[in-house]
Amino acid sequence: MREVLVVRPASGPPYRVLCGEGAPEALASAWDAAWSRPVMIADSTTDRLFGGALASALEARGHDPLRLGVPPGEGHKTREVKAALEDAMLAAGIDRRGCIIALGGGMVLDLAGFVAATYMRGIAHVNVATTLLSQVDAAVGGKTAVNTPLGKNMVGAFHHPRLVLLDTAALAQLDDAALASGLSEMVKHGVIGDRALFDDLEAWATSAQTRRPPDDLIARAVSVKAEVIAEDDRDRGRRNSLNFGHTAGHAIEHAAGIDHGHAVASGMIIEGRAALRNGSFPKEAHERLTALLTRLGLPVTPACSFETARPFLLRDKKNAGDVRCALPARLGAADPGPEGRFTAPVALAELERAWA
Ligand SMILES: NC(=O)c1ccc[n+]([C@@H]2O[C@H](COP(=O)([O-])OP(=O)(O)OC[C@H]3O[C@@H](n4cnc5c(N)ncnc54)[C@H](O)[C@@H]3O)[C@@H](O)[C@H]2O)c1
Repeated sequence: MREVLVVRPASGPPYRVLCGEGAPEALASAWDAAWSRPVMIADSTTDRLFGGALASALEARGHDPLRLGVPPGEGHKTREVKAALEDAMLAAGIDRRGCIIALGGGMVLDLAGFVAATYMRGIAHVNVATTLLSQVDAAVGGKTAVNTPLGKNMVGAFHHPRLVLLDTAALAQLDDAALASGLSEMVKHGVIGDRALFDDLEAWATSAQTRRPPDDLIARAVSVKAEVIAEDDRDRGRRNSLNFGHTAGHAIEHAAGIDHGHAVASGMIIEGRAALRNGSFPKEAHERLTALLTRLGLPVTPACSFETARPFLLRDKKNAGDVRCALPARLGAADPGPEGRFTAPVALAELERAWA
């Protein structure tokens, strides 16, 4: 593994991001002497696939990891599962110098990060991200949360990890749909923050034999998020730009019951079209975005009607008496919007037209 960047969040200490193969050895050698016992939190799939090697590497350095497991899937990112993890840590005598190692996709990272945020008023955690979506998105930025019956990510905290490992060897185990989901967020990062990344994703997609992107493109996609976080890690301004495609995308995800990355792909097409209509996004850019998503096997038409999605659009967290979207200004740049908060009100009628 090699260090690809250092995240310097607007609030909170900097942390390193390592990317590549060999996560167990990299974690063992980056272990901070100030941390006492490692607490590994994985879901049953990531524990089975990667837990043994990680535990062995830590044991070889004289550590005695406490291994805790949760069932896989979004349905287990709950307060109840969090409480069970905390009880297990308390029973094992984990003190405030303990360090949680979150091993898995975004579900495990969000859940374990939230345990770290509140256990003994906050302890250290390391993210070992094993899905493409979690590598390019959830692993950095410090958002942790659980779901409640009334909504996703409704209870949570900002708590940055101390170290992030992007285990790209783990991607070999992911199917094409899971890879495409992560690719959708990588394209989004290109659109809102890095024109060269967008160009290189296009070039790679034209010749790629696989949906597993090269490490270099993964690292560059994370860099876009890191740059945003350096300016705003609390959703006060530029961080909102990361929500391009997400107002329509979340509504489609929930109304049609489809995967996040696929929903966001069609969400970017809809919101990109709204930006095109209000003159803030060039037509040629929208055509290239459509072509790239199509080539990556992502949907460019919404999986449900506007009418089905309407109630979910009205419930979006960014709304402030209207429906708000984070729009691009051109390929590689987000639109700061009328108030410099990187969202703009979009009339429902406008979104409905863009849906078609
Ligand atoms: N905090 C943030 O900033 C942020 C950003 C984006 C998404 N998220 C959250 O991330 C979650 C979605 O993340 P996800 O898509 O990684 O889903 P996930 O963590 O649920 O993983 C999907 C499935 O893949 C399995 N898996 C994980 N790694 C694997 C591997 N290498 N090979 C084979 N199977 C593997 C998991 O066990 C799980 O069954 C959501 O809860 C979302 O809210 C958080």
